[in-house]
Amino acid sequence: MKRIGIYPGTFDPVTIGHIDIIRRAVQTVDELVIAVALDTGKTPLFDLEDRAKLVRAELAALPAADQQRCRVETFSGLLMHFAEAQGAGIIFRGLRAISDFEYEVQMACLNRKLNDRIETVFLAASEHTQFISSRFVKQIAKLGGDVSSFVSPNVLSHLKAAFEL
Ligand code: PNS
Repeated sequence: MKRIGIYPGTFDPVTIGHIDIIRRAVQTVDELVIAVALDTGKTPLFDLEDRAKLVRAELAALPAADQQRCRVETFSGLLMHFAEAQGAGIIFRGLRAISDFEYEVQMACLNRKLNDRIETVFLAASEHTQFISSRFVKQIAKLGGDVSSFVSPNVLSHLKAAFEL
């Protein structure tokens, strides 16, 4: 049976930290669905379709064989409903510093209550991406700081346009 994994997130915008997780997660499944969420409890800078488009553009940098096993989808409503509908058995989440831990474990436990046939698997963020978050990337960019080592040139140009820099 095909092993399908979901990598969900807000991706507002996608960073090199997300790409690190995508590159590694896809090695462990037959198909990886990168799921861009509408319902995140946040007010994103980029709308849903733009966030998905930016993630799709990033996939071009992956080896061709990995690209073929990745697809980007948007979803609204509960992640576990989406995951079930996709036939997924695994949810991937990247784990950075200790500060992520409480939020991530809470979410994983609640998600397991909703559907215990789908496991959450945490991938430790690579050393060079440990400190990168979309939230701080946006804040730094908005205030005119250099975020070129945290996001791709394509995302950088979208950030500049969004903040009229
Ligand atoms: O990148 P983020 O913002 O940390 O991702 C959070 C996300 C999208 C995974 C989470 O908000 C989510 O799963 N949203 C969908 C709605 C849902 O299922 N909520 C219940 C979570 S326990």
